[in-house]
Amino acid sequence: MVIIFVNSAFLIACARIAGSMALFRLPGLIDPHVHLRDPGQTHKEDFFSGTTAALSGGFTTILDMPNNKIAITTEQLLKEKIAIAKGSIVADVGFYFGSMGDNLNEFPKVVDKVFGLKLYLNQTTGNLLINKNKLKSIFSAWGKTVRHLPILVHAENESLRSVLDVVKETKQNVHVCHVSTQADLALILREKESRLPISCGVTPHHLFLTEHDANVLGPFGKMKPPLAKRKDVDFLWKNLKAIDVVESDHAPHTRKEKLETTFGVTGLETTLPLLLTAVWEKRLNIDDIVRLCVTNPARIFGCQTDPNTHIEVDQSISYTIENRKLYTKCGWSPFANWRVKGKVRRVILRGKKVFEDGKGISVAKGSGRIIFPVPCAD
Ligand code: NCD
Ligand code: ZN
Ligand code: ZN
Repeated sequence: MVIIFVNSAFLIACARIAGSMALFRLPGLIDPHVHLRDPGQTHKEDFFSGTTAALSGGFTTILDMPNNKIAITTEQLLKEKIAIAKGSIVADVGFYFGSMGDNLNEFPKVVDKVFGLKLYLNQTTGNLLINKNKLKSIFSAWGKTVRHLPILVHAENESLRSVLDVVKETKQNVHVCHVSTQADLALILREKESRLPISCGVTPHHLFLTEHDANVLGPFGKMKPPLAKRKDVDFLWKNLKAIDVVESDHAPHTRKEKLETTFGVTGLETTLPLLLTAVWEKRLNIDDIVRLCVTNPARIFGCQTDPNTHIEVDQSISYTIENRKLYTKCGWSPFANWRVKGKVRRVILRGKKVFEDGKGISVAKGSGRIIFPVPCAD
C-alpha cells in the first residue's frame, strides 16, 4: 500500500504514479455549514451523533448554525450551547451567531466566540427569517464590531440581490450559502470580479442531484434551496474553480418529520465519497477537494486546524452508501444506494486514531474541542 502525502499541486503527479491502489493523506476536512440541532431538537441529531457522523465522513472540524429551536441570538444562549457541546463532541466544533435585527447589542459580547453571523432571508427551517429592511442596520452593527468575520446569508434570487446592494454600500465580508442556480452564481461571479468581498459555497446535493431526483426522492429530496434544473447543476460544475467552498448543509430531520413539511437533508457522511467519486470520474482533482474543504473554509472563516489532524482515503475502494451504516441520528441520506468510489479509511485527530474503516476507535465524548476564531490584527 502506498501512502501519498497530499496538500499541494504536487499531489496530482503522485496520484498518477501510485495508480489505483493509492491511499491518500489529506488534512482533516472542515465543513463550514452544519445543523447539529443541539440543544432543542436532539431527537434529530445531537452533538455526539453529529460529530461522530462528521468524523466518519472525514470532517474533523465543523461550524454549527444558529437556527436551533430556540435560535442562538444572545450571548447567554451561545454560552449554554457551548457548555452542552463541550462534554459531548468528538470532532472540533465552532459556532455562528444568529440575528433578526433586534440583538445588535449582543454582537460585541460574542465576536470572540463565533466564526460569523448568519442571516436568513428566505423561509427555511427555524424562526430566523429577517425583514430585508433590517439588513443595513445589522450589517453596520456587525461591521463596527468585527469587520473581518463574515456575515453568512441564506439568500436566494431577489433576496440575494438585496444582500449584494448592502454589501456594495458597507463592503462587509459576506459568504453566500448553498448557491444552487445559474442565475445566482452568475451574479455572484460578476460581483466577485468587480471585487465585492463575497465568497460562496455549494452543497453536494446541488452538485449531484437535480429536480428530476427531487421527484424520485419525494419528501427526502426536499431542502432549501430546492434541487435545481440540469442546466443549473451543469453551470455549478462548469464554474467550480470560482466557487470557494463545498458545504454539506447537513440538516437532519427524522424520517417521520420528512413526511410532513420539513426542509433539509443529511450530508456529513456523503460529501467526501461523492467528491472522491467525481475525482475518479475526472470531474475534479484532489487539490480541488483540499481547496474547497480545507484551505478556503479555513481562510474565509478564520479557523485553524491542528497540524497533527489528518485523514486517509483510499481512492480505489468502491462501496454502496447504506442508510443503516450512517452515524447521523436520523439515519437516512438522499444518496442511499448510490455506488461511490473513494472511501475514508482512517481519521487521526491530534495524532490519535479516532476512526478506522467506518468504526469509531476512540470517540470518547468530549474528545473534540470547541474552537474560536483567530483574532484579527486590525
Ligand atoms: C436547513 C435546516 O433544516 O436547518 N434546511 C435546509 O433545507 N437547508 C436550514 C437551511 O440551511 O436553510
Ligand atoms: Zn439555508
Ligand atoms: Zn443550512
